[in-house]
Amino acid sequence: MQKKIVYLMLCFLLTHSMVKAQVKSTEGGEQYRPQIHFTPKAHWMNDPNGMVFYKGVYHLFFQYYPDASVWGPMHWAHATSKDLLHWVEQPIALYPDSLGFIFSGSVVVDKNNTSGFGKNGNVPLVAIFTHHSMEGEKAKRTDFQNQSIAYSLDEGKTWIKYAGNPVLHNPGIVDFRDPKVMWYEAQKKWVMTLATKDRITFYSSPNLKDWSKETEFGETLGAHGGVWECPDLFTLDDNGKKVWVLTVSINPGGPNKGSATQYFLGDFDGHTFTPISTDTKWIDYGTDNYAGVTWSNTGNRKIFLGWMSNWQYATVVPTTNWRSAMTLPRELQLKHAGSDLFIASQPVSELSGIQSKSIVIENLKFADSLDLSKKTGSVKFPCRLNFSTEKSSDFSLSFSNDLGEALLVGYNKKSNQYFIDRTKSGKSDFENGFAARHTAPRFTNKPNMNISLVIDVSSIELFADDGLTTMTEIFFSTKPYSKILLQREGKAVIKKLEYIKLKSTLPKQ
Ligand code: FRU
Repeated sequence: MQKKIVYLMLCFLLTHSMVKAQVKSTEGGEQYRPQIHFTPKAHWMNDPNGMVFYKGVYHLFFQYYPDASVWGPMHWAHATSKDLLHWVEQPIALYPDSLGFIFSGSVVVDKNNTSGFGKNGNVPLVAIFTHHSMEGEKAKRTDFQNQSIAYSLDEGKTWIKYAGNPVLHNPGIVDFRDPKVMWYEAQKKWVMTLATKDRITFYSSPNLKDWSKETEFGETLGAHGGVWECPDLFTLDDNGKKVWVLTVSINPGGPNKGSATQYFLGDFDGHTFTPISTDTKWIDYGTDNYAGVTWSNTGNRKIFLGWMSNWQYATVVPTTNWRSAMTLPRELQLKHAGSDLFIASQPVSELSGIQSKSIVIENLKFADSLDLSKKTGSVKFPCRLNFSTEKSSDFSLSFSNDLGEALLVGYNKKSNQYFIDRTKSGKSDFENGFAARHTAPRFTNKPNMNISLVIDVSSIELFADDGLTTMTEIFFSTKPYSKILLQREGKAVIKKLEYIKLKSTLPKQ
């Protein structure tokens, strides 16, 4: 009898804890928590900030509200990583104060101690950010956004705000924010690229404290469907020639609605940015890559990271424990296509460090459609799918579950466009425009195609033609997708197809 009671009690405890675990994994959107993308353990995140590489550590600060899973008084939270994939959350770096919330900005390594913040040979890391005064905004003043600085003498662990803040006063422009600062070696000065409503304003400084205005750029160039935000200025190599890149996020007004990031290629002489061409180019045509900037202090390598969401629905997506992830970190390069020059993005090479099982199939022939799961075994996310073809022709991949939910990604030759269609991808009732089909142009006219997809539990990133066309989108299937169906027009041959399982990079609990 006693044995039976113990047995029953054990059964009860086991079932109870199993039910609890099940509830836990589907509560608050935990089933949507990306496995290889950075997410905060809890609460709200938007833009990546202050990205700097120092002494072997990648620092990622980010817009964060620690008290809820919606936007609120902004802090700079902090995470660190040695490989850009495994992140460890650190204590919050900057809290709001009497000058306001801490909006987006950047961090530089002040090697020459131009700021004078360095002590006993310690190199200061200096953060340059926007102070956003809520009182000022409520009082309908026009000067409530100002630029301030803070420094760290312990490799980014703790930060001291400068007593002379703000260092750059607002001249009366409502949107005056998101400073990205770089060292301009040729003139031995700091250059700040600032979003100022519908244009960029460049400032310069010898010491990060005293700033003078240089020039303005873009009032009549590029996309202007929304306010300009979160710019970046850096160089990329084009066969030994230095090309300057100016990226500018805009919201709304992206190529597929809502938030997106455009870029300009050109020259910068320390004062003025002169574009090579005036057409609008986008870093990513998907709806979920916003406010991205590059890490500073990475030498010739340019690594970009964006916020994997869109202001159109970011605050209402069906995750309530936490909200928003970052995109995969990407390496940027210049690539020629036709007579034009573009930025191509590829996942950082560190991604190969989390590959586990890989299945390679060569010269795959099939008519009409192929259930890839039959070749790869049951589909598990996160994974990477690479394939190449000798001829460009229509294709589509459908990721689906047995509830009839499906996410489609593909290429349409007639329109010469890639697409991601999340019309029937799962939950979408949280916002009217979410369930839609989005497109992106194909830029190269090479006959052969190469496609790389990185799929996490609630996101897909498409890198086509060596990263010339990129699309990033999030989705919320009610149940995980378990089947991949590949369809191609006519008698199709896939030269090589690779299915690679990726290991979760979430911190072990
Ligand atoms: C971009 C942005 C920035 C601003 C921050 C506030 O997403 O609007 O311009 O600094 O978010 O959180």
